Amino acid sequence: MSDSRIAVLGVGLMGADHVARIQSRISGARVAVVNDYVTDKAEQLAASIPGCRAIVDPLDAIADPDVDAVLLATPGPTHEKQLLACLEHGKPVLCEKPLTTDVETSLAVVRREAELGVRLIQVGFMRRFDDEYVELKALIDGGELGDPLLLHCVHRNPAVPDNFDSAMTVRDSLVHEVDVTRFLLGEEVTSIQIVTPTPNPAARQGLFDPLIAILRTAGGKHVDVELFVTTGVAYEVRTELVAEKGSAMIGLDVGLVRKSAPGHWGGTITPSFKERFGRAYDMEIQRWVDAVRRGGITGTYVEGPGAWDGYAATAVCEAGVQALQSGQPVAVSMVERASIQAGWHR
Ligand SMILES: NC(=O)c1ccc[n+]([C@@H]2O[C@H](COP(=O)([O-])OP(=O)(O)OC[C@H]3O[C@@H](n4cnc5c(N)ncnc54)[C@H](O)[C@@H]3O)[C@@H](O)[C@H]2O)c1
Repeated sequence: MSDSRIAVLGVGLMGADHVARIQSRISGARVAVVNDYVTDKAEQLAASIPGCRAIVDPLDAIADPDVDAVLLATPGPTHEKQLLACLEHGKPVLCEKPLTTDVETSLAVVRREAELGVRLIQVGFMRRFDDEYVELKALIDGGELGDPLLLHCVHRNPAVPDNFDSAMTVRDSLVHEVDVTRFLLGEEVTSIQIVTPTPNPAARQGLFDPLIAILRTAGGKHVDVELFVTTGVAYEVRTELVAEKGSAMIGLDVGLVRKSAPGHWGGTITPSFKERFGRAYDMEIQRWVDAVRRGGITGTYVEGPGAWDGYAATAVCEAGVQALQSGQPVAVSMVERASIQAGWHR
């Protein structure tokens, strides 16, 4: 079987990383088309990849007959239109989070995909492909620790850009913990509260940092998340599960531990998400490419989180932004999943 021809839309931080990944570490696929709002950037990148073209209009890139699948790494506000175009052309698409930036458009995308009856959309929640999360999920599902009761999560960044506000902490950082919660516990999140302690003096004026998010699931389970994006230290992501018969923790950064003079003991912490989750991104894209290649036989072009997961995360984050303003618990408003699945006919 010849390599799947991928169009990468948006070749900024994530898109350029995915292009390099597909070209050097992923089997069964090659980058055939790149597109970016900044056309020079796309043209320069295309010139460095054998057999790759830059296409100026993202919708033309999606429709191109020599494109088998699309990787969307454009900013969130552009996703709705580009996802709907992928659906109309029957092109499998891996969409970096968020699915779309509001609940209504996310639901419209979920409904359109269901009407068409083929699973074409995968959402880029890469933590589901990280070895430690996979191991924790297997431990939970194996039942050895009994039922999960609580999750304690930590999400720390060394720094964020000047335009980063508290709503972005919810939509861009907390969104990953929302998906982790749904993935590990297998339940929807039904309410969210945000607590704002005294800010870190190093945080920009007006940025509530750190934040504590408190999530409650449909089964009454509690999840708390510390979000601290101006630590000045490194990128740290931890999850502790507390269950009926024990607890388990991931994200301890216990790689190589070095001992050296004079009296030093320790290791390193990854500087950013690219290093911490590099292997997870590789795994995510490889599994997606494999699913795309098998799709004609299996009837699904997705391996992992789909459009519904993107919709659920958007719904929780939207409630989270309201909770940030009110300080009170806010109920998450979502349609019943059964109302969507009734439309599937595969
Ligand atoms: N999964 C993760 O851990 C993770 C991490 C970072 C970013 N993201 C997501 O990836 C996406 C891209 O983020 P980024 O950090 O790479 O942003 P970025 O700003 O570095 O890159 C976005 C690129 O898209 C281009 N662009 C803008 N509008 C476009 C359009 N209409 N059509 C084509 N190209 C367009 C820009 O010129 C830019 O090159 C976002 O949805 C973001 O939330 C996911």
